[in-house]
Amino acid sequence: MTKHIKDVIASRRALLGGFAGLPLLSLAQSAAGTEPVPPEFQSVDPTNADTISLPPGYRWRTLIAWGDALFEGMSSFDPDALNRADQERRFGQNNDMLALFPADYSFPFASNTQRYLLCANHEYVEPSLLFPALAALQDFTPAHVEAALAAIGCTVVEVEQNGGEWRIVKNPESGNGRNRRITPFSPVIFSGAAANHRWIRAGATAFNAAEPAGPDADPNEVRCGTLANCAGGRTPWGTYLTSEENFNTSGTMLTDASAPALAAAQTDTAWILASGNFGTPLYSTMREDQLPPRFDVSANPYGPAVYGWVVEIDPYDPTWVPRKRTSLGRKKGECANTALTKNGRVAVYMGDDQIDEFIYKFISTGHFDPNNRTGNRDLLDEGQLYVARFNEDGAGDWLPLNLERINSAVAEAPYHARFEDTGDVAIRAREAARLLGATPMDRPEDVEPLIDADWLGRGTILLSCTYNRNEEFYRPGNPRRGDAQANHIQQSNVGGHILRIDEHNNDCGATRFRWDVFTLAGDPRADNTFTLPNGIAADVSVTIDGRPTFEGDRFSCPDNLCVDNSDNLWIATDGSDSVFPDCNDSVMIAPIGASGPRPVKRFLVAPVGAEVCGPTLAFDETAFFCAIQHPGEANSAGVSNAELRWRNHQRPPSNFPDGGDSWPRSAVVVVTREDGGRVGS
Ligand code: FEO
Ligand code: CA
Ligand code: CA
Repeated sequence: MTKHIKDVIASRRALLGGFAGLPLLSLAQSAAGTEPVPPEFQSVDPTNADTISLPPGYRWRTLIAWGDALFEGMSSFDPDALNRADQERRFGQNNDMLALFPADYSFPFASNTQRYLLCANHEYVEPSLLFPALAALQDFTPAHVEAALAAIGCTVVEVEQNGGEWRIVKNPESGNGRNRRITPFSPVIFSGAAANHRWIRAGATAFNAAEPAGPDADPNEVRCGTLANCAGGRTPWGTYLTSEENFNTSGTMLTDASAPALAAAQTDTAWILASGNFGTPLYSTMREDQLPPRFDVSANPYGPAVYGWVVEIDPYDPTWVPRKRTSLGRKKGECANTALTKNGRVAVYMGDDQIDEFIYKFISTGHFDPNNRTGNRDLLDEGQLYVARFNEDGAGDWLPLNLERINSAVAEAPYHARFEDTGDVAIRAREAARLLGATPMDRPEDVEPLIDADWLGRGTILLSCTYNRNEEFYRPGNPRRGDAQANHIQQSNVGGHILRIDEHNNDCGATRFRWDVFTLAGDPRADNTFTLPNGIAADVSVTIDGRPTFEGDRFSCPDNLCVDNSDNLWIATDGSDSVFPDCNDSVMIAPIGASGPRPVKRFLVAPVGAEVCGPTLAFDETAFFCAIQHPGEANSAGVSNAELRWRNHQRPPSNFPDGGDSWPRSAVVVVTREDGGRVGS
């Protein structure tokens, strides 16, 4: 039997001193000296049902869905009547990240909280799921586009549990409520290393000209708001971090390739590299009168520089203008998860979700003060940004994005421009990371540090790589790959995988780590060859060095993660049905500390066409929340709703969550046990 390439690689790594093939470090064993108890719920069978499918003894409810009013006295939702002003007071579309904060802040967060502030991201809009009465995409007017843009961004909404039932708490029309929307029209303030960068200043002018300043406007505010909000994180001082991801598809276009402003920008090598890397401008199919002119890259070539950041929002204080924390680097940001280092600084873990981009960590200069909540709010402006390099021997390094080192690399590299200052490093973080030799990853998504009750990082980090369908050679940390040295066969990673990092000395402030594969996503019953729905053979086996990385229910495309108090990893998938079409995207549960093949069970299956995002738990773990994003965006055969609607004039293939013949709506669902017990156990 031919030895599979992953085994060749694993063996070579073991010889080099890596720990592939050795039992994984056991969290539970190190803490309590016992094996963890795997969850006992009955796995959900694969299904294409257009609903939430759960184990026996569980039930789900819609907590809030696209268009639901955030304020008292508003009319019921009519998606054809939607305009910008109305959408700015309703829950947005395509909700992604979810984060819960106790309604009354305390540190640590009180575990018996039953009333929360829920923060949600709205990543983008799918035009074919908007305005049911329109017959064609070309019928979108500028007013429709403004309403669509207002459906993107973030929501803050109060939620509470009473008598076992969860509901949102609408705020009075006027008053001091905390419910609100932050959209691409809202004011933000740039802070940190790149706050005054020339690209941002140039790009911001058109945004401020287009949106009138409010009566109490801060002179530093830029009215570009936030968009493409994918995942994010929470800080121990109770702020919400939201990451701007695919901003090129939500708000930049090119209408005139010969425009003078564009020609001027194209003399700037750094601008050309950044634009090529981010895919801006997007050659839009929209007419030029459809998207507001400030998004037109031919007229406002530096407009895209105002996006691609981590934005800090204070859910407790609607008067505090959200800050774009530029010191965390510009990228197609995914999560921004925090952990305290052993000396009390703040570490922020971030993935840049594009094929062959990187994993980052920021460490603040200042220290977290649990007795001064708002005094911590500017901690993320000053510190050091690092990028991960995974080495062949199972070790890894956090490489500092240091100006001098980067410019030394520039001197050796053709086609790169010097970095002028730390602001330039922040805004060109991707280019800097590549120059320093960071390891390109298979779409790194969530990077989840395990923390204790006091937010102290435990030193273990789980991170998901959703997939990489390019055929490439093996790289450390990206195991399902061809080996350039062994057989020169390039290979794709259709299933994705999850990695584990253990920081040196279990300190999230460390600059060295060890890494290993936590699971290869795939089918534990498949050998190395598997035929995808498109007829192409792919590797979805889950073994490395003859060792299965998990057993149980198959899944692929791991995306958002969360960890419960029993050290179970909750895995939400995005695109699993493109590999295993018999089951919609799902939530899987895997005990982190298990030795041997890790038992993975399917806990939840989403409705047709949806991805699952934002998995999170009530603090007492009696409720599980997740985002059902874009139900009906495609049918179970993978045909897009855009094609079904605009070409075939059909209704969307999902009626989630309202059922019947209703129009589909993205929604937050809450899952509880019928006996009121802890979920997922
Ligand atoms: Fe928006 Fe990386 O998923
Ligand atoms: Ca995602
Ligand atoms: Ca993803």
